[in-house]
Amino acid sequence: MNWKAPIFTLTLFGLVLVSCKKDDTEGPSELDVTLEEVLKDASGGIGKGYYVLPNSDAYSVIPQDPNNPLSKAKVELGQLLYHETGLAVAPMQAIGEGTYSCASCHFAQAGFQAGRHQGIGEGGTGFGLAGEGREPHTSYAANELDVQPLRTPSAMNGAYQPNLLWNGQFGATGKNVGTQDKWTAGTPIETNFLGFEGLEIQAIAGLNVHRMDVTEDSDLVTTTEYKSMFDKAFPDVPAVDRYTRVTAGLAIGAFERTILSNEAPFQKWLRGEYESMTDQEKRGAVLFFDKANCISCHNNAALSQMDFYAVGMKDLYECDEPVFNTAPSDAAHLGRGSFTGNPNDNYKFKSPQLYNLADSPFYGHGSSFRTLRDVVEYFNDGIAENPAVPASQLDPEFKPLGMTSDEVDDLVAFLETGLYDPNLMRYVPERVPSNNCFPNNDQASRDDLGCN
Ligand code: HEC
Ligand code: HEC
Repeated sequence: MNWKAPIFTLTLFGLVLVSCKKDDTEGPSELDVTLEEVLKDASGGIGKGYYVLPNSDAYSVIPQDPNNPLSKAKVELGQLLYHETGLAVAPMQAIGEGTYSCASCHFAQAGFQAGRHQGIGEGGTGFGLAGEGREPHTSYAANELDVQPLRTPSAMNGAYQPNLLWNGQFGATGKNVGTQDKWTAGTPIETNFLGFEGLEIQAIAGLNVHRMDVTEDSDLVTTTEYKSMFDKAFPDVPAVDRYTRVTAGLAIGAFERTILSNEAPFQKWLRGEYESMTDQEKRGAVLFFDKANCISCHNNAALSQMDFYAVGMKDLYECDEPVFNTAPSDAAHLGRGSFTGNPNDNYKFKSPQLYNLADSPFYGHGSSFRTLRDVVEYFNDGIAENPAVPASQLDPEFKPLGMTSDEVDDLVAFLETGLYDPNLMRYVPERVPSNNCFPNNDQASRDDLGCN
């Protein structure tokens, strides 16, 4: 034994003492206290609780549509329908039948986004590891693909916005009160006349837009457990109306309300687990809720906001990657103005939620950014990248912020990892009643997903 051994033992003993001491005094650090104070101010005095996302089974506290109250039976049905490629019964080409689902463009591995700059429903082939391997099938013409002129936003944390889509067109309540004259007959927006909130309306209309349907006499309903699941979820709906696109949409909307990123480090921190975030993430959070003023447009539990702002981001047709069915003339580029027709709303887009963005590295309504650092630097510079947006439309809060490069790093860390729920696969079912592969069921996707 050499002379160093007792010192080594002493040092070890000392370390144990130190770590014991730390455990004993586990509580808020100075930085934690600062963040708590900043959150209190940001929430108008309410404090941390304002930003807590409920547990996914806390049906009494999750924000919901009073006309579509949450129930376990509805959520369980909706989870299956959302992932069900068996609903793909109205394809443009016969080879598309049974190959796509809502989750084709909004799946858990991509933070319920599409994992590519432009989501592809029908006409897509392949999945890759997280959607990056999906490409248009060569037998589809561009105008036969199910694609939109905007990036696919997340279907997660939608419970915090009564109006959905980048232009907020879906949902009969909230910002859309008084817009009835825009709910044009014969278009998907007409669905607003059913009177539900955005998640419900989007799902009911979306099934049709994305070439899916549910009918009582289909094999899918009559030969699987779906029939009894609809019975349990909608016992009060008359049998003739019980197995339809409307009830399916209501179930999907209910399920989507439970897709909440409540296991992200920031959420754990809000619930008192001070160790769940690094000091860098905490510094980033202090910036987000204070000096960087992100909360003037992202200030609810989902870090979204039910309003529309022009921050001058580019449109999808300008992407470097191939895009389909989008051109400079698309009305979609006008944002809220494309729905209301009011020039004052032009170029204003709905403030998106900010959780798990790292899962799908395409940001902005036109996928014009590839990293969260690029987005944060964009806000820090405060210079519009899209020359089509008149300076007079830009929001006054979109302005140079003067953050140092270390501060930018901190804010990026908060977004990238502090707001990252690592366990979204808990929202994915083991199987769907058709026993099809999901979220996609084309041959290349089946290979990629290991379904064969
Ligand atoms: C082809 C890919 C694709 C498919 C399939 C698809 N979506 Fe989407 N989804 C999008 C795009 C793109 C948008 C944004 C469209 C817009 O803003 O005009 C969107 C928007 C949404 C939103 C609104 C999010 C927000 O923050 O406003 C929800 C919720 C949603 N989809 C759910 C669904 C459901 C439910 C289904 C199945 C019925 C579905 N999607 C099928 C691409 C897709
Ligand atoms: C004036 C309102 C406003 C302010 C201030 C603001 N944002 Fe946003 N943010 C938006 C809007 C609106 C979008 C979507 C814009 C678009 O796609 O055209 C957006 C998009 C984003 C995105 C991309 C999300 C996605 O899914 O594409 C991130 C990340 C983001 N903001 C973070 C921040 C951070 C961090 C700050 C503070 C430095 C901030 N925002 C300040 C309104 C704002």
